[in-house]
Amino acid sequence: MGQKPVVAWFTGVSGAGKSTIANLVDQKLHALGRRTALLDGDNLRHGLSRDLGFTDADRSENLRRAAEVARLMTDAGLIVLVAFISPFRAERAMARQTMAPGEFLEIHIDTPLAEAERRDVKGLYARARAGQLKNFTGIDSPYEAPDAPDLRIDTLTTSAEAAADLIVARVLAESGA
Ligand code: ADX
Repeated sequence: MGQKPVVAWFTGVSGAGKSTIANLVDQKLHALGRRTALLDGDNLRHGLSRDLGFTDADRSENLRRAAEVARLMTDAGLIVLVAFISPFRAERAMARQTMAPGEFLEIHIDTPLAEAERRDVKGLYARARAGQLKNFTGIDSPYEAPDAPDLRIDTLTTSAEAAADLIVARVLAESGA
C-alpha cells in the first residue's frame, strides 16, 4: 500500500472530542491518499461489543477486542484510528503490546473532566450525576490519564482542526510521509 501501518490510539474522557478529531484525521489522511480505518467505542459497542457494559471487566474485554481488530487491520496494511475512552493504563499497555513494535501511538485527547461535563454533548454526565448511569468514567469509575503519551492534545487551547493537523503530521512521520 506504500505506507507503513500504524495505530493511532486516542484516549480521553467521554466527550473529550476523540471521535470528532479522529474523523478529521481520517478525512485528512484520505485526502493525502492514505488508506485508513476508524474504530470507535460508539460503533464497536453497537455490534462486536454489544454484549458488554461498563464494568471494569467489560471495558477491559471491549478494549482487548478493539486491539485485536486493530491488529488485523494493521496486518492488512492500514493506518488505524482507534477512539475509545480506554480509561486504564494496563489496557492501553496491552493494546500497545498487541501491535508490532513501533506501530502504536498513544494520543491523549486531554479535556479536563469539568470541561467535558460542562459541554455534556450527549447529556450523559447529567444522567450519571442523577444516578441513572452507573460506572460512568470520571464520576464513579476512574480515568487514568497517560503519564507519557506519544502526543497530548490540550483541547482547551487547540481547535479540533489544529489537533487533527498535529496528529496527521505525527502519523505521517511514523508511517513514512
Ligand atoms: S471504554 O471505557 O470501553 O473504552 P468506550 O469508548 O467503548 O468506553 O465507550 C464510551 C462511550 O459509551 C461514551 O462516550 C458514552 O457515549 C457511552 N457510555 C455509556 N455509558 C457509559 C459509562 N458508564 N461510562 C462511560 N461511557 C459510557
